[in-house]
Amino acid sequence: MFMRNAVSIFVTAAGVVALNVASIGLAAEAPANPVALGSAISEAQLADWDLIVAPDGQNLPEGSGTAAQGQAVYQQQCAACHGAAGEGASGSPALVGGSVSTTPPLLTVGSYWPHASTLFDYVRRAMPPTAPKSLSNTEVYQVTAYVLHLHGVIAEDFVLDKNTLPAVQMPNREGFTDVSGN
Ligand code: HEC
Repeated sequence: MFMRNAVSIFVTAAGVVALNVASIGLAAEAPANPVALGSAISEAQLADWDLIVAPDGQNLPEGSGTAAQGQAVYQQQCAACHGAAGEGASGSPALVGGSVSTTPPLLTVGSYWPHASTLFDYVRRAMPPTAPKSLSNTEVYQVTAYVLHLHGVIAEDFVLDKNTLPAVQMPNREGFTDVSGN
């Protein structure tokens, strides 16, 4: 998080220099790291968006975490919407529980998603929706472990990192057919 803030401040500083020419008033309200359609994107800006983790775990960052550590992160950052135990609430989906075999099926991260790496990827880029990308990589590993633990996929003290996470066996890993031809 400190790295990202440092980059933002640097970009803002550069932006302020440019904006000062036009209007000092505008500079104070300029977004920290603007990415705009039709404008060239800098390497620093690109790095802030180049976060996609592949199903096989490629591009997972350094860091690690366990479910035991992730419980506090989950309660502070996720429980208000997804429920204290991941059961979901009005407007926010259940993250755990359910089954693909019931009628109708209850599709959750735990029952449906074939790759654990997708959970890390999604949470890092999109959650919480009020402040996406606000969690550190360590916090994302921790809360990912916690959600997986809530569904009984991994033990409370299992250490998730870029090597162990891709090897986690999701319950529905055989439930998809690859028609991509790759
Ligand atoms: C302000 C409410 C809110 C908070 C806080 C929040 N979420 Fe979400 N979350 C949502 C909503 C709404 C969706 C559905 C988004 C959609 O389908 O477009 C969602 C979707 C998800 C999904 C995808 C579920 C699926 O089956 O598609 C995951 C995983 C997830 N959230 C994890 C988390 C985690 C982990 C946290 C805490 C770091 C968190 N969320 C915090 C509201 C929230």
